[in-house]
Amino acid sequence: MYPLFLNELTPQQFLTDYWQKKPLLIKAGFKNFIDPISPDELAGLAGEEEIESRIVSNKDAVWDMETGPFEDFSHLGEKGWTLLVQAVDHWHPQSAALIEPFRFIPNWRIDDLMVSFSTAGGGVGPHLDQYDVFIIQGQGKRHWRVGMPDSSLKQHCPHPRLLQVSPFVDCIDVITEPGDILYIPPGCPHDGISLDPSLNYSVGFRAPAQKDLLTGLADHLIDQDITGRRFTDPERQIPESVGAISEQDLSQVQDLLRQLVDDKNFAAQWFGSYISHAKHELDATEPDPHYEANEIGEYLEEGSVLAKLGGLRTLYYQTNPAEDIQLFINGDRFLVPVTELETVKKLTDQSSLSQEDCQHFAADNGRLQLLTLLINKGYWYFTE
Ligand code: SIN
Ligand code: CO
Repeated sequence: MYPLFLNELTPQQFLTDYWQKKPLLIKAGFKNFIDPISPDELAGLAGEEEIESRIVSNKDAVWDMETGPFEDFSHLGEKGWTLLVQAVDHWHPQSAALIEPFRFIPNWRIDDLMVSFSTAGGGVGPHLDQYDVFIIQGQGKRHWRVGMPDSSLKQHCPHPRLLQVSPFVDCIDVITEPGDILYIPPGCPHDGISLDPSLNYSVGFRAPAQKDLLTGLADHLIDQDITGRRFTDPERQIPESVGAISEQDLSQVQDLLRQLVDDKNFAAQWFGSYISHAKHELDATEPDPHYEANEIGEYLEEGSVLAKLGGLRTLYYQTNPAEDIQLFINGDRFLVPVTELETVKKLTDQSSLSQEDCQHFAADNGRLQLLTLLINKGYWYFTE
């Protein structure tokens, strides 16, 4: 458990005054901070094929970047490099707990937890990100500077795979200590240089661009074999020029597209499936053999508790109280009766199911069947 102290702000005040607007230093946002992971454990994760990792180094002003997996770090020396490991929440439950305090922002907006280990002088250089991020300082200290968005800043590549930004004016200049948190909105230049061996945890967010949405929509139409309506023009008049695409025709094409996304039920179907899909691999292990619902029922009755798989994206949409709730879990959609909103919220809003929650699932066959299916996919697992 990591209780979050937002500089005396309520989460709503933070959202109103800072979220997507300006950076904020939250001094001792986590009091008496204890790192959930050690540098050695992080290095272990960086050795795994399915875990995305990279090392950025800066030696004598020469930048380099390598991608993992990494077995050996000895050639890197004691200074001037950073190891960054993506989606650590998928593989390390103790680290995943660091995302929970930020769940005053909906699940679908949260992306993953990136963890970095930096030696003295290490950092990725001054840069901009497209997404909001909370950067938590773990062990060690780091000199951070953060500025406001500035369209005059020029981006350049000191290495083909590193995008940095020209010198910027800062509005935050701080040496972060364990438990300090920086909130950085998209487009704010920032630069963090480690003063000694240090760990940083970045809770990153997801904000789809129109390109991502349309790609996701096209994939959904293809997967579901949906053609949709076709352009029709029974009122066609002789045009002045046969080469022209008329204003009216173009408006009609725009309307055709709009009709597709204007259908709330359909829009929720594709968006929920699309956005609930994890970008990085999950550590899901299907139980072998699969459980039968009655076995699960017995475990639940006996007082078992369940944890949700780290990084599993769980969302729902309820379009109209008369219709089924659409529950989305890692790209799959389940239709759940409207009377089961409490059940759905236990799955989407909580990271674990207590004994009491488990009794709730054991009390109804439909709930038990759903939970059995989810356990058999490796999405929830017994912890006791
Ligand atoms: C880090 O080096 O831990 C954070 C990188 C970033 O600024 O996004
Ligand atoms: Co950044």
